[in-house]
Amino acid sequence: MSPSTIPVALVTGGSAGLGRAIAMRLVEKDYQVWITGRTERTLRQAATELSLGSRRPIQFAVADVTRPQDVEQLILRIAKESQRLDVIVNCVGTSDRGLIEGLTPDRVHELIDQNVVSTLNVCQASLALLAESQGVIVNIGSLASKVSPRFLGGYSIAKHSLAALTSQLRLELKPQGIHVGLVSPGPIRRDDAGSRYNDHVEDGLPDQAKKPGGGTRVSGLPPEVVVDAVMKCIVKRSPDLIRPRYLRPLIAIGHLFPRCGDWLLMKFTSSKS
Ligand SMILES: NC(=O)c1ccc[n+]([C@@H]2O[C@H](COP(=O)([O-])OP(=O)(O)OC[C@H]3O[C@@H](n4cnc5c(N)ncnc54)[C@H](OP(=O)(O)O)[C@@H]3O)[C@@H](O)[C@H]2O)c1
Repeated sequence: MSPSTIPVALVTGGSAGLGRAIAMRLVEKDYQVWITGRTERTLRQAATELSLGSRRPIQFAVADVTRPQDVEQLILRIAKESQRLDVIVNCVGTSDRGLIEGLTPDRVHELIDQNVVSTLNVCQASLALLAESQGVIVNIGSLASKVSPRFLGGYSIAKHSLAALTSQLRLELKPQGIHVGLVSPGPIRRDDAGSRYNDHVEDGLPDQAKKPGGGTRVSGLPPEVVVDAVMKCIVKRSPDLIRPRYLRPLIAIGHLFPRCGDWLLMKFTSSKS
């Protein structure tokens, strides 16, 4: 069977949060969209809701993307049922709260699995399909891919690694016509933003650590702003986007002048009171 002319996109972690918003936009842009997650019930529900009013139903596949065998099955299924793959958005990721002082090797492994190995598995398994379509991979980082504020436990370690994976892969895959980009958002607005880390905060951390971004004084981004950046990365093949935009020069200044960077981070992560 020859491949269809309809572009196909895979969004990992597409059943909730940012991944779901990205899947919605890709549906609106007329992609055939696949979403993955580990929980069949939430995936099925998301796929049903996202398919409402769409010309073609969303496909979903239960897969833990930290497991190479799950990812292999997933990509084989996409190849069989959709015959092509044009865009991958690697959105699976987990944040953290804590101090480096209390960070255990097990927690580092978990965070690297969730934020880095997940993406590595999906990228490696999809290379042949992406080379055929001259496709695009978008990895979802965080401001923690660029700076390492206080109270985020091992999150910055993992998201910095994801940034490294993204830049190296972009250079490696350029000759094959595959683009790899990173979108690094600050805290994203959502109903449970202030309560997600209530159970994860260790003794001795200030209350602000429970807040989005570990209490970083950056206003919550509307999810659409981040989705727009993902679409820009796909359409314009942008290598590296930071949202909110105004933080890019501050981050660059911090990298050029580390003392100034530390001062800025302390200022942005100090409680107002
Ligand atoms: N939320 C923010 O404020 C924010 C800010 C900056 C960056 N980010 C980044 O944006 C991304 C999405 O964050 P979010 O807060 O929107 O996520 P979320 O609401 O926690 O949703 C996570 C999604 O990923 C799925 N998932 C988790 N682990 C998985 C695994 N191993 N295999 C397959 N699916 C898995 C979840 O479904 P199951 O649980 O059913 O598997 C769910 O669909 C992450 O990379 C995060 O680091 C978020």
